[in-house]
Amino acid sequence: MENVFASKHPLVAHKLALLRDQSTDPKTFRELVRELASLLVYEATEDLLTTPIQVQTPLALSQGAELKDKIGLIPILRAGLGMLEGARELMPSAEVWHIGLYRDEQTLKPIEYYNKLPVDPTLSMCLILDPMLATGGSAVATTDVLKRRGIKKIKFLGLIGAPEGIQNLHTHHPDVPIFLAAIDDQLNERGYILPGLGDAGDRQFGTG
Ligand code: PRP
Ligand code: URA
Repeated sequence: MENVFASKHPLVAHKLALLRDQSTDPKTFRELVRELASLLVYEATEDLLTTPIQVQTPLALSQGAELKDKIGLIPILRAGLGMLEGARELMPSAEVWHIGLYRDEQTLKPIEYYNKLPVDPTLSMCLILDPMLATGGSAVATTDVLKRRGIKKIKFLGLIGAPEGIQNLHTHHPDVPIFLAAIDDQLNERGYILPGLGDAGDRQFGTG
């Protein structure tokens, strides 16, 4: 599908297998989420705009580049927080906008419970961070919110996507590229991704 990118990087595949493993403890799970997020951010940002600059090395003048895009990182609470750490390591001066959504267990619809977005944003690009793209409801709702704030360039970064969620996000927001570590098979009757990794929030925060 156009605008959907599943990583082919061996490091991503290796770390994702460890992440899926049910015997992986919460500390290791968090480390893997952080590392995978860094790798995905690297893959998803190759089109960032730069301005040429000159840098004085100890030996000579060198041509360099400075990031031009003003980037926002949007972790969807809770599970997106783990990805935020990895993204911030690469982009320490990015703005962070928190949005809290949880899925109603019966309807699987996203319920917004927290929104700390600036009233007058000046960002040129936003990266939505959430490990799981299941039905896609949370990703669509977050993208809706960002577009209502006037953000034009948005990318979604997740670890695992189900075909249903990818289709949903793509249908509602075809302009939003979707970067994933893997595309899985399907959702189960409770809206969990198969084979997936279970509940990404519970596994990070030890609440399962
Ligand atoms: C998980 C996940 C996504 C959402 C994906 O969050 O982190 O935000 O489910 O499902 P969807 O694509 O069907 O919307 P959850 O609701 O479990 O909340 P949590 O992060 O607080 O655990
Ligand atoms: N949220 C999760 O944490 N895992 C899933 O498989 C689906 C939604």
